[in-house]
Amino acid sequence: MAGAAAGERQSSTAAEASSPLRVAVLGFGTVGQSVVRILTERTELASELALVAIFNRNVARKRADWVAPSVTWTDDAAAVLTAKPDVIVETVGGVELPYGWVSAALAQGISVVTANKLLLAAHAPELLALAAASGARLRFEAAVAGGVPIIDAVRTGLAGDTFTRVVGILNGTCNYILSRMTGGDSMSDALGEAQRLGFAEADPTSDVDGHDAAAKLAVLVGVAFKRYIRTSEISTGSIRRIDAIDFRYAKRLGGTIRQISMAECDASGAVRAFVGPALVPDSSNYARNTGPQNLVTLTGRFGGNTTFSGQGAGGYPTAVAVVSDLVALARQTRSGAEPAWTPTSVSAAPMRPYYIRFSVKDRPGILASITVALARHGINVDAVLQESGFPKDHLPFVVTVEPCEATALAGAMREIDAEDFHAEPVLVMPVLPGE
Ligand SMILES: NC(=O)c1ccc[n+]([C@@H]2O[C@H](COP(=O)([O-])OP(=O)(O)OC[C@H]3O[C@@H](n4cnc5c(N)ncnc54)[C@H](OP(=O)(O)O)[C@@H]3O)[C@@H](O)[C@H]2O)c1
Repeated sequence: MAGAAAGERQSSTAAEASSPLRVAVLGFGTVGQSVVRILTERTELASELALVAIFNRNVARKRADWVAPSVTWTDDAAAVLTAKPDVIVETVGGVELPYGWVSAALAQGISVVTANKLLLAAHAPELLALAAASGARLRFEAAVAGGVPIIDAVRTGLAGDTFTRVVGILNGTCNYILSRMTGGDSMSDALGEAQRLGFAEADPTSDVDGHDAAAKLAVLVGVAFKRYIRTSEISTGSIRRIDAIDFRYAKRLGGTIRQISMAECDASGAVRAFVGPALVPDSSNYARNTGPQNLVTLTGRFGGNTTFSGQGAGGYPTAVAVVSDLVALARQTRSGAEPAWTPTSVSAAPMRPYYIRFSVKDRPGILASITVALARHGINVDAVLQESGFPKDHLPFVVTVEPCEATALAGAMREIDAEDFHAEPVLVMPVLPGE
């Protein structure tokens, strides 16, 4: 079987098909080590999956005595491909280096399992085309929502439906922080605790500013809608400016705050996509999803909503998704090639209600100038909320508005932002319905 694409196993003889897939793991870090642990400890998989090589830079310091002596340790990625395994597992991370390895593998008919959402968000169309041309398979269950088998659900369990919407909590770090803040923690305390527990990186930018979730959402758009959108086109908001006061106002409005990733696809194939903090009702699945857990709801045209939740990160949950992809390749079950994703521009957001929190240096006429600016752009105010007990030079209050176009709101906010009464920048969040 050496040198044959995993995708060719369907046409192999019975004898060939029963030989184990030869697997090379690139990257012996958190996820890669957990993959190797599972392959090592689950000896019943040995008839289907044979680990042949582990690649890592400076590999000598990575060698582990619990790995079978037959496994080759190397820091030469080209040599791994030259040995023609049936499948490589890419758990290095980053974009351009893994793109080189993964594209070279697929071009040679070597299948790829990757946990790398950034690679897919940047290069999925080229990689899927390479796989289609060579007959190799590209699988990436671990790239979105870690151990939650959302991609397999789209491809198999819900394959009878077509999807109109995918919405979820795709970043466990943000969800952990916002859950803690619901309980009264400040942003900096919650972030510090997330870092101490290992949920957040030392540099949390990618998580809190929404880039991590946007890459995952782009992959979900590909899988669910067969459309390819650039992450740079996704409207992406940061949770950095969420303050304890926002949870008090959210509570008065019957809800709380979560980082939500949402994409919709209409009958014409137009895609809308949003990542950022949003006000969600207390009764919703989103509000009940606490800690680092991920949650994804798929809306099918025929079957309605189906929700999945579980561990979105961590070595073992993510490695389970990787090994499940390997097992699927070995068994040739559920291994139909991923169809091409059609490049699509992201359309404007639908009409939505919004939550707008101001912090102002108080003086007469502020509310009037805000409501006049909103009215000039055709936006109706729904409610004004103001908690007492704040200093007049840093007075927070909230205006909620009825459903409006995002572009109209952006126009009004440009005018309002230019006023001189702000003590800090305005926070704008969509208000989402409960599910
Ligand atoms: N961790 C999670 O919970 C999780 C969840 C879902 C998806 N993922 C994805 O899985 C992938 C791996 O994540 P991870 O958390 O396992 O990362 P990690 O712990 O940093 O592991 C990466 C491994 O790759 C090696 N490496 C890095 N750059 C290299 C290079 N240029 N050449 C050769 N080896 C290199 C590292 O070696 P050194 O030891 O020398 O740095 C390390 O052993 C990423 O794409 C990530 O987004 C991770």
